[in-house]
Amino acid sequence: MNTKGMLNMKLVGLSGSLSGYKTGKVVNDIIVYVRKNYPNIETEMIDLKEYTIDFVTGAPLQSYNSDTLTVVKKLLFADLIVIGTPIYQASITGALKNLLDHLPVDAFKNKVTGIVTLAGSEKHFLVAEHHLKPILTFLKATVPVGNIFVHNDLFNEEEQIVDPEYHIRIQKLFEEMLALHKSLSHS
Ligand SMILES: Cc1cc2nc3c(=O)[nH]c(=O)nc-3n(C[C@H](O)[C@H](O)[C@H](O)COP(=O)(O)O)c2cc1C
Repeated sequence: MNTKGMLNMKLVGLSGSLSGYKTGKVVNDIIVYVRKNYPNIETEMIDLKEYTIDFVTGAPLQSYNSDTLTVVKKLLFADLIVIGTPIYQASITGALKNLLDHLPVDAFKNKVTGIVTLAGSEKHFLVAEHHLKPILTFLKATVPVGNIFVHNDLFNEEEQIVDPEYHIRIQKLFEEMLALHKSLSHS
């Protein structure tokens, strides 16, 4: 793909796990892929473990702590966002939902949001479609048709994923995100 026009484009990777390493690893693998293949795109990783996000109480955004404001602003200023979450109780994590609750309703207008889900059960591969995608589209995001679902069994003892298909899926997801973003800029 022509990399002209990618200047000033920013990708944020967001991991919505407060417990294990897997979600952060997969989202970070996407960031690493983009840094290597699209050096003109600015990238940043947000791991929610590193931030203390206030619970939404209905107060105005400015009244929350600085971590909350920082993370919300990073999302609002991104062009492309990869949102990763482990599946918890057949849904997304409470930590991720709480962060999304802080956002204004048009937060993701003109942004493309890719989805990554991690799970212990294959049965929950559609949670991304039924629980996360409707929230993102409510926030006016453009959501790729493809997403990345990773079962825990894909990780080896060194906490790595060696399946060659995995890297193809990262490439496909990101190419779709770029194509969608390009179509948004032309509409
Ligand atoms: C509280 C909790 C609830 C979970 N619920 C589900 C579930 O409903 N379905 C499922 O497939 N996996 C479930 N899991 C497994 C996690 O989704 C899975 O281990 C994931 O890879 C963890 O990601 P992490 O290492 O980024 O925290 C649950 C794990 C926890 C801790």
